[in-house]
Amino acid sequence: GAGATTRIAARLAAPGHAVGVDISAPLLERARASTAAEGVANAAYECADAQVHPFPADAYDVVVSRGGVMFFEDHAAAFRNLARALRPGGRLAFVCPQPPGPHSPEARTLALFARLVDEEPGAEAVAARTAMASLSDPDRVREVLAGYEEVTVEPVTVEAVWGRDVPDAVEFLLSRYPGGALPASRLAELEAALRPYATDRGVRMRAGVWLVTAVRP
Ligand SMILES: C[S@@+](CC[C@H](N)C(=O)[O-])C[C@H]1O[C@@H](n2cnc3c(N)ncnc32)[C@H](O)[C@@H]1O
Repeated sequence: GAGATTRIAARLAAPGHAVGVDISAPLLERARASTAAEGVANAAYECADAQVHPFPADAYDVVVSRGGVMFFEDHAAAFRNLARALRPGGRLAFVCPQPPGPHSPEARTLALFARLVDEEPGAEAVAARTAMASLSDPDRVREVLAGYEEVTVEPVTVEAVWGRDVPDAVEFLLSRYPGGALPASRLAELEAALRPYATDRGVRMRAGVWLVTAVRP
C-alpha cells in the first residue's frame, strides 16, 4: 500500500529494518515520500509481486500484511514463497476480512457498492470482489498455510477507516475494485450511503477481520 504498515513495522523493528512490498508503483512512490517526510530511516520498498518475488532466503524474522494477502492468485504457492524468505522460526502475521455479517453497516455498504458496480460493465471489479473474500473461511486459511506451524486464526473487530471524508472513502472503494468506475448518479448514491458514518476522524465502520499468525518450521 502506501507504506503505513511498513513504517509501523520499521519503528518497532529499529535498529532492525523493514521492507515494504507492493505491485503498485504509484503507491510505493507515496510510501517513499511519506517515509522520508516522517524521517523513518530504516524502511525500504520494493515494487514486486510478493507471490513469486525471489526474496533472499531465510532472511526475514517476520512477514506482516494488513489486508493484502487475499489478493494473491495462488495462495498456497505465495505463502510457500514467503516461508522461503523467513528464517526458520520466523513468524507470519496478517489480517484479512471475515465474511461480513449480513446486517453490518460494512456489509450493507459493500452490497450497495457491488450492486452499483455490477450494473456497470467491468469483469475486473467482480474478480477483485471475489479476491476480497478468498481467505474468509478459516479452513481455507489453514489449508493454504499447510507448510507453517502453530497456525492461529482469531476473530477481531476493528473500527475500519474508509477515508478522511466521504469523497475520499468513495475513491478508496473505487481503487479497491479496479475497473469499477461509476457514473455520477451512482457515485451520489454511494456517497449518501457512506455519509452516516462520516466523523471528524474519518469515515468509520466496524468490521470483522481474521488475525492469522503462523510460524515457519
Ligand atoms: C487493501 S491494500 C492494503 C495496503 C496496506 N497493507 C495497508 O494496510 O495500508 C492491498 C494492497 O495489496 C497490493 N497487492 C495485491 N496483490 C499483490 C501482490 N501479489 N504482491 C504485492 N502486493 C500486492 C495492492 O497493490 C494493494 O496496495
